[in-house]
Amino acid sequence: MNPPAASIDAQRAWAEAARRDLPWRTTRDPWAVLVSELMLQQTQVTRVVPRWHDFLARFADATACADAGVAAVVEAWSGLGYNRRAVALHAAAVRVRDDHDGRVPGSLEALRALPGVGPYTARAVLAFAFERDVAVVDTNVARILARHEGRRLLPREVQALADAWLPVGDAWAWNQGMLDLGATVCTARGPRCGACPLATTCAWQGRGEDPAVGSAGVSGGQSRFAGSDRQGRGRLVEALRAAPVSLDALAAAAGWPDDPERARRVVAGLVADGLAVEHDGVLSLP
Ligand code: ADE
Repeated sequence: MNPPAASIDAQRAWAEAARRDLPWRTTRDPWAVLVSELMLQQTQVTRVVPRWHDFLARFADATACADAGVAAVVEAWSGLGYNRRAVALHAAAVRVRDDHDGRVPGSLEALRALPGVGPYTARAVLAFAFERDVAVVDTNVARILARHEGRRLLPREVQALADAWLPVGDAWAWNQGMLDLGATVCTARGPRCGACPLATTCAWQGRGEDPAVGSAGVSGGQSRFAGSDRQGRGRLVEALRAAPVSLDALAAAAGWPDDPERARRVVAGLVADGLAVEHDGVLSLP
């Protein structure tokens, strides 16, 4: 399908006027952008802002991060959740230090080869740090495109559409605008179609079944946290940030004093993910 020219112009004007003033938008440092994008993958913007500043104050570049060791990075990840991302970020920093002279690479292939960097993050670094003409597709962008087309989309359709829409030479502003649109107007629940710059060419316009539901790349939302294994994992990593925990205290540290079996299972997952190591009956950060 041809890109809807009127709506593309309207998006660009809207994006300029509505742009959220976010700290990672003031830098083109690929390391700082990579850190922001990994933090933003599963954590809200308001929570990320202070953690991003703190993280970069501590690890100003990939080499500083790599040299600090994985435990220091997991400690600095406190408050962000999904701690596996911290392990992956440290591993990516080691790769950048060892294989790329400490500089985050500027090609899709080399970025994709970094641990924890998928198609979204790689393109986000290219567009937001290197200002390269690539279309960034995350769950927000996939939702916007599926609604605009008025039908569920396959994975390759989502990226192909995003590529076709991208105004050449304006990837930075365009992609930030799409993220802003998904976060503030074309939201998963309660979209504000009256305020949308794409409304004139949008097939859905908020009427009838939502075409984004079940479309490729559109997440179904996070499952319930309270009472989940993820909550116990989070509690354990938080305890380990303070001090090592002996194996007989793990169930209590996980918040399940009466379910040591469940705690053991979760600990096995932490060890397998590189988030913890066991030594002489004591669990600690790696
Ligand atoms: N989510 C992911 N990347 C983002 C960005 N650059 N700005 C705002 N939200 C984001």
